[in-house]
This record gives sequence, structure tokens and C-alpha cells, in this order.
Amino acid sequence: MTSWRIRDFHDDDLDMAIPLWGDPDTAGAAAAFGLSEIIAAIRAGQPAVVAVVGGELVGSAVAMVDRDHAWIMRISLAGSWRKQGIGSALLETLESRLVTDGVRRISCLFADSEEVGVAALEHRGFNVRDGLLLYEKVESVATSDIGILSEVGGRMLGPGLWEELGGMVREKELIERRVILPLANEELAGRVGLFPPRGIMLFGPPGTGKTTFAKGVASRLGWPFVELFPSRLAGESSAGLANALRQTFGLVGELDQVVLFIDEVEEIASAREQRTLSAAHGVTNEMLKLIPTFREKDRRLLVCATNSVRALDSAFLRHGRFDYVIPVGPPDPEARRAIWIRYLSSIPNDDIDLDAIVSASSLFTPADIEFAARRTAQAVFEEALLEKGAESATTELILSCIHDTRPTLSTRIIEEFQQDIEDFARV
Ligand SMILES: Nc1ncnc2c1ncn2[C@@H]1O[C@H](COP(=O)(O)OP(=O)(O)OP(=O)(O)O)[C@@H](O)[C@H]1O
Ligand SMILES: [Mg+2]
Repeated sequence: MTSWRIRDFHDDDLDMAIPLWGDPDTAGAAAAFGLSEIIAAIRAGQPAVVAVVGGELVGSAVAMVDRDHAWIMRISLAGSWRKQGIGSALLETLESRLVTDGVRRISCLFADSEEVGVAALEHRGFNVRDGLLLYEKVESVATSDIGILSEVGGRMLGPGLWEELGGMVREKELIERRVILPLANEELAGRVGLFPPRGIMLFGPPGTGKTTFAKGVASRLGWPFVELFPSRLAGESSAGLANALRQTFGLVGELDQVVLFIDEVEEIASAREQRTLSAAHGVTNEMLKLIPTFREKDRRLLVCATNSVRALDSAFLRHGRFDYVIPVGPPDPEARRAIWIRYLSSIPNDDIDLDAIVSASSLFTPADIEFAARRTAQAVFEEALLEKGAESATTELILSCIHDTRPTLSTRIIEEFQQDIEDFARV
């Protein structure tokens, strides 16, 4: 029998230990701690022991002590040295170090009962705690991305925004199927020859939820959200704007994954005859060049939004730059109902007549509904505070707040939008 021995970890073991810790075939208890955390623990002098054969390192166990409680971060054994008692010997030595240091409880978290080290723990008298589950969350921003995100004003939006979008069932289903699902299931998409979208254009009247949809997509994907405002980037000259765009796209391109949102995109890509200073020829051309480069890498999505899709340069909308050109329309009665329910849910009310409210707000966008609901809450608040009235809204009050809110939409805007759908939508 070849002789192995157990000793304390030395600094110069690190080079040989890293491959052992990092390799899923040799490392147990891999679920809870990452390699960098183990290295940091070792550097901080946390207890660790190794098994050596000749000059070769064949196993190790690393712990992290928190007062009288220790966690075993990793147990590793080279493949050909399993089932010889090395794991148990490593644990025995580590345990005696820990106990000498005042540790009274030792834990170890495994994701799988077949992992390296499980047998050794059982042999050493460790018990599986009933009812213990491994909860884990992987933050999707790489450390190297944090600096770029703060430079370009990007952020993680947190979960749940998509679910908060009331109504708009048609738009939600379309964006979910065409955009979110292929990006979230890239492997399957790849296997069946579907290229996940890299760019989409949202168009529709003001306040219909284009920005909200873009944020919802980022929230669903768990990708950081970066928003560009051409009017704020503009600076004094069109050359300045082209430069700023190039710089921002360059930085954003370095992120591992991102939803890049450009609102009011007509500012930088309007057709020749409608160009303002910021949409000067050079700027539009710069955008046309930047999009193909942006599209080259996986795990990124450009979302552009505009109120006036007909004003865009036709080269801009061409296939190959934007995979889909998606109308985000005025909410139909069902959507208005859902959005009203959402905004009224935080206002106490007596048995209100939702049908009347929905039909009285027929030319309302979601933004208008939000505003009318805010007006209602304000009226209830004033009534309760100043008149000692009831803390609740009535149908009459809501209808009068609707009456006082100017709708964004008009039949002309809706007709133009229908025409835009015929002329430009690509879904
Ligand atoms: N489906 C929805 N459910 C609930 N609230 C919504 C919905 N869509 C939009 N809103 C609310 O309406 C407001 C306006 O939405 P948003 O800014 O997304 O519209 P937009 O289409 O981007 O407008 P603009 O064209 O002016 O940029 C936001 O406060 C948003 O929270
Ligand atoms: Mg917007």
C-alpha cells in the first residue's frame, strides 16, 4: 500500500491545490463556496489540511471558522485516491485542529448525496440534518461588470417588473415568445436553429408602456439594464453625440450580458427630411454602424423605442438590425380593466363599478390611468385629512378624476398608429 500522509496546508501548496478544488470530479461540498472564496479563506489563515503522496498533493479539506461554528468549505480527493480512507483521515485531522481552536459545531453543505467526501463525513459521525435545503442565488453581475455599469448608469432591476405589467396581454405574450424565451433558453434555440433576437424596436403612442416593457424584459432575464437618452448625450454638436454613442456602445459591449435601451430613438435616427441637429447624418450613420457590432455577441439585447416610427430612417428599420418591430398599443378594455385593478388595489374603495370606469377611460394610456388613480388617492387623502371624510374612494369620485384627466390618445392618434402597424410592424 502506498503511503500517504496528512499535514497542515502550506502556502506553497496553493498551485497544486487549486486544480483539486476547482475540478468538480475531485471536489465535494462544492455547492456553497466558490473557488475564490476558498482561496480568500486560505489566504486569511483559515484551517486547511492536505493529503500528500511523495511530492504530490492528492487531497485536501478546507474550513472556515466563525467563533464556535465551522463550515467545511471543500473536501477534495484526486480520482485514483478515493476509497482508501484519505477523506476520513483528512477530516479527522481537520476536526482536531478545529476543536483545539474552540469549535463546537461543524457543518458542511452538499448539493448531492453522491459527492466526494460524503462517505468520509458519515464515517466520521456527521449526521444529515433533516429538512435542510440548499437555497442559492447567483447574482448575475460579474465583478468586472460593476465598474462599467456605474460608468454607463446601468443597474440591476430586481425581479417582478414583468409581472407588474397589467393587462396588455397581446404585447406581453408576443414579447415573451419572441424575445424573452429564446434569450432565456439559448441552448434549445440554438439546437433548433433559432437565433435569439439581438435588437427589437418598440413603437406606439406616448405612455403606452414601451419603457416599462423594456425594463420588464431585463427583469425577467435577470440582466442589467442600461438606458440611453440621446437628448442627454447630445452635447453641443452632432460630432459630440456620435462620439458619445460610440463610447457608450464600446463600454456596454464589454458587459457579459445586458439589455441596452434607447428611448426616443427618432432623435438619433430620423429620416433625412426630419433631421434635427442631434439626428444629423453622421449620427444616424454612426448608429447604423454600431448596431451590427453590438449584435455580434451573445447575451445582449438592444431595445429601441419611439413614438414616431414613421419618422425613422428606413435603413435603420431594415431587417438585420432589428429582429422585430413591435407595436405597443393603447390598452384595450380588458387591459384597462387590469391596469385599473392594479392601481386601485392600493386605494380603499367601496364596491366600485369597474365597467363604468373602464368605459369612461377609453382614450387613456396606462400612464393616464396611473395619473387618474393618483388623483383619486389624493382626493381621498384630502377628504379624510381636511374634512374628516371616509378613507375610501367611490365610483363617482373615480369618474370625476377620470373626467379631469386629459387623455393622451385621440381617434387621430389611434388611426395613425393603426396605419403604422400596417406599414412597419414586423412580428
Ligand atoms: N401595462 C401597464 N400596467 C401598469 N402600469 C403601466 C403599464 N404600462 C405602463 N404603465 C405605467 O405607465 C407609465 C408610463 O409608461 P412608460 O413610461 O413605460 O410608457 P412609454 O410608452 O415608455 O412612454 P413614452 O413614449 O412617453 O416614453 C409608467 O409609470 C408605467 O408604470
Ligand atoms: Mg418611454
